[in-house]
Amino acid sequence: MKKIVVLGSINIDTILNIARLPLPGETMAMHGRSIAGGGKGANQAIAAVRAGAETSFIAKIGKDHAADFMIDTFKSDGLNIQNVTEDNVAGTGKAYILLDDNGQNSILIYGGANQTITVEDIRNASETIKSADCLITEFETPLEASTEAFKIAKENNVLTILNPAPAKQNIPEELLKLTDIIVPNETEAQAITGIEVVDEPSMAQAAKKMHAMGVKNVIITVGANGSFYSQSEKSGFVNAYKVNTVDTTAAGDTFIGYLASKLDPDLSNIEEAMKFASKASSITVQTQGAQNSIPYVKDVEI
Ligand code: RIB
Ligand code: NA
Repeated sequence: MKKIVVLGSINIDTILNIARLPLPGETMAMHGRSIAGGGKGANQAIAAVRAGAETSFIAKIGKDHAADFMIDTFKSDGLNIQNVTEDNVAGTGKAYILLDDNGQNSILIYGGANQTITVEDIRNASETIKSADCLITEFETPLEASTEAFKIAKENNVLTILNPAPAKQNIPEELLKLTDIIVPNETEAQAITGIEVVDEPSMAQAAKKMHAMGVKNVIITVGANGSFYSQSEKSGFVNAYKVNTVDTTAAGDTFIGYLASKLDPDLSNIEEAMKFASKASSITVQTQGAQNSIPYVKDVEI
């Protein structure tokens, strides 16, 4: 069984349903409000474990009701949470998701405990990282922690996957050099490279720039349009499944967790893994909410 470690965030998502996103200065009525488990890291870890991988999660949580709710989900999914520790001061991370009737969203995040992860916490989890096949991280937790985790991973031949989300400019070269696969969406790819990603030639151009920054493998996800990959020897495009989209929250996270669970260590099956990941995220977008909509492997047959 594949061993995956995810370093990342835990958020309680508050979903606010509105007809359309508000304009500056506008007051609008909502027609729904609900709570769901979220956070990019937690979503990715849940996707990996539901895909059938033995998955460990490195994260920080508050001492509050939100934490109890999240820990229950992790336990029922069989996620290894030995390295999920509590911060006594900061609350569990939060996200406020404005979701319109077309499935478009805008998300505000409050880092809370996610921002208290230290290099020391990562060192405490080093045995877990060393024994994994693959390590995934994103940008809702401190950069120093991600860099330390990737250092430990690369010293021990563990495959590193970076989801550079939320979008960030000027990612340190050190982190990019430690990254085996970077998986941005079009907005994140543009933030990294300055290239507007609109079609396959611009994806190829952005990927080339990321290769020049030191990343060997690039996968750019473009939502309902599909995903593009670029390696030194080959590149290609994988179409997305056409479905009725209700809420895209956690679609990218599902893609990453499922991708990691399927990828061979030499990445020779990258297209097959992307198809599988894309099938899984096409299921996630059909239900409102993050973790509750991430499918189990039995429902992701190609
Ligand atoms: O990627 C989706 C996630 O981003 C949501 O669950 C929300 O918590 C934000 O972190
Ligand atoms: Na969803």
